[in-house]
Amino acid sequence: MSVAVGPDIRIDRVRGEPGDAGLAREVREGLTRELKELPPKLFYDARGSDLYDRITTLPDYYPARAEREILNRRAPEIVAECAAGELVELGSGTASKTRALLYAMAGAGTLRRYVPFDVDASVVEQCAAELVGLYPGLAVHGVVGDFQRDLGHIPEGRQRLFAFLGGTIGNLYPAERAAFLARVRRLMGPTDRLLIGTDLVKDRRVLEAAYNDPEGVTAEFNRNVLRVVNHGLGADFLPEAFEHVAFFDEASAWIEMRLRSKRAQTVRIEGAELEVTFEDGEELRTEISAKFTRESVESELAGAGLLLDDFHTDAGGLFGLASASLP
Ligand code: SAH
Ligand code: TRP
Repeated sequence: MSVAVGPDIRIDRVRGEPGDAGLAREVREGLTRELKELPPKLFYDARGSDLYDRITTLPDYYPARAEREILNRRAPEIVAECAAGELVELGSGTASKTRALLYAMAGAGTLRRYVPFDVDASVVEQCAAELVGLYPGLAVHGVVGDFQRDLGHIPEGRQRLFAFLGGTIGNLYPAERAAFLARVRRLMGPTDRLLIGTDLVKDRRVLEAAYNDPEGVTAEFNRNVLRVVNHGLGADFLPEAFEHVAFFDEASAWIEMRLRSKRAQTVRIEGAELEVTFEDGEELRTEISAKFTRESVESELAGAGLLLDDFHTDAGGLFGLASASLP
């Protein structure tokens, strides 16, 4: 479904609200595994997007600050390198850091179009409305969809800057990352560029603090996945009956987010025709957040037929912004 919302805004909804048949299948598949698991895109309804935005302002959540520092400093040169006229952003969220790129494109006089792509319709609609107000003449073509399945809905273009920020690539498993990068590579033309924000491997204490804030915002965000399943599939998860767990798995080089059942309990998921039992203390995996090195990023890009042109880091060396193109 495509909706022209105003003269300069078009939004294509590829996926319906949570509750579609795909959701039931994915939830059933994840919850019947040995280590139960839920797909991380389910964190993000309007409430989840809002909680994530609050996470990005927490003192211990350094990735957002570090990535913003890099973008603010490097946006003009990144934009100039490919004379970018169009920004295609995957997992765009509230597009808060993206503004540095749009600002640089406007400054260079090349800005034509912004294509925000996100699974949460609320953020796509909101940022579209806000950005056409800020940049008169900017066309916004939003896509509400799943970036692991619906990339084909991205409009054709040239001189495009694809951006995948926030370390979101780390929320995919290695095989998923390979498939995702190969698909993005096939969308790209010789004048396009790809920017990927990657959180870097570092001291375990720094990593774990970023995912265990004392105020409990991260815990609330983690539990939001249960609310989204309740809402989308008529399930009866009691979010407060699960506690937040996050730890660094050094062998896999990723932070793992889990929810631990505080007691033995049974949950009914009407829309997936499923009843799930949890033992006291049983853990449900909700997300991984992989940590990278320049070398690991370069080799994953190469595996997808992409060339790493630049790897920008913040002054503290905490976060990396990779810039890649076709060889
Ligand atoms: N880029 C923003 C937001 C990062 S949070 C930033 O850096 O601050 C991750 C974003 O990706 C969320 O907005 C979430 O809704 C979106 N997302 C997660 N999984 C997705 C999927 N499978 N398809 C599309 N969007 C997804
Ligand atoms: N993309 C974010 C990251 O990997 C997502 C995130 C931040 C997250 N904090 C979280 C996911 C807490 C689950 C729980 O850093």
